[in-house]
Amino acid sequence: MGDSKTDRIISGKPDNEDVTLDSSLRPRRFDDFIGQEKIKDNINIAITAARGRGDALDHVLLYGPPGLGKTTLAYIIAAEMGVNIRITSGPAVERTGDLAAILTNLRNHDILFIDEIHRLNRAVEEVLYPAMEDFALDIVIGKGPGARSLRLNLPDFTLIGATTRFALLSPPLRDRFGAVYRLDFYDPEAIEKILQRSAKILKVKADKDGLKEIARRARGTPRVANRLLKRVRDYAQVMFDGVATREVAVEALTKLEVDSIGLDEIDHKLLRTIVEKFGGGPVGLDTIAASISEEADTIMDVYEPYLLQLGFLERTPRGRLATEAAYQHLGLPYNKKPPQGTLL
Ligand SMILES: Nc1ncnc2c1ncn2[C@@H]1O[C@H](COP(=O)(O)OP(=O)(O)O)[C@@H](O)[C@H]1O
Ligand SMILES: [Mg+2]
Repeated sequence: MGDSKTDRIISGKPDNEDVTLDSSLRPRRFDDFIGQEKIKDNINIAITAARGRGDALDHVLLYGPPGLGKTTLAYIIAAEMGVNIRITSGPAVERTGDLAAILTNLRNHDILFIDEIHRLNRAVEEVLYPAMEDFALDIVIGKGPGARSLRLNLPDFTLIGATTRFALLSPPLRDRFGAVYRLDFYDPEAIEKILQRSAKILKVKADKDGLKEIARRARGTPRVANRLLKRVRDYAQVMFDGVATREVAVEALTKLEVDSIGLDEIDHKLLRTIVEKFGGGPVGLDTIAASISEEADTIMDVYEPYLLQLGFLERTPRGRLATEAAYQHLGLPYNKKPPQGTLL
């Protein structure tokens, strides 16, 4: 991914600033976790039931675009269950032995959080199956004809997996989660509430219209909202009297090339490329990626989900298609006929 100031702000991916930002702004309990009401309700019921029975919580899979609260939810679930949480990620667990070490060190009812779980390698994933299903670890001792297989019992633990790419999860892994939750983009009202909370914690002076403006441009993503808030605060402090009003927010975010609905220069480049170079599409993701010098993965994880949600982009079997709404937002005339071969 490029390192321009804007793509860092818009991308839902954590960066260094988030490490400090997250620790102060990350909600610790359900009461502070704003929005996603259905998921919260369901998880709350599961937690209450598991606690009532004295059981570990069923394995949970959280998926959705970056910055929507997957990691936050994992921590909250651990806090509400009153258990320890052990954090790792798909790419970090390289060998089956790494996973075996983690699993055997868990205590009863502990939570193991595996971020980017779609990136676990096959061999490691296969160790996970009996661990999830039977709380057992199968190890092979020795080599060749004398090798013996041994089954170790594991504590009752809860696996929480998080992923931006549900489709990349193998079916046997998916099937072993007792609950699967998809996090959606937040509506502007929820984002506004998140911003109010963050402004209070960070002691940012902001008025209601200022926060509304930031919320409108935060692409339904709490992590992005918190970042924009900080940039607007800086701008207010340096260029104005310190109060984040609508005027300040508009000026600050326009300077950062975040437009009125939260699209940045890369979103614009992406849409313009489809429209101007490829007649509106359909055009394959890799072709788009090559023409705008971004990684296909970044486009898929960070940019596309919001453009799809806005209805600016459509995924077709033959590639990506820019919609009439996208043309309108770019201020370009729409005179496209349906692509050849489309069944009407
Ligand atoms: N529902 C929420 N309410 C308040 N803040 C939130 C919420 N969800 C996420 N955040 C904020 O956004 C940041 C990013 O969330 P995170 O859980 O790290 O996202 P993900 O793991 O899905 O990429 C958190 O540090 C937190 O400050
Ligand atoms: Mg995360």
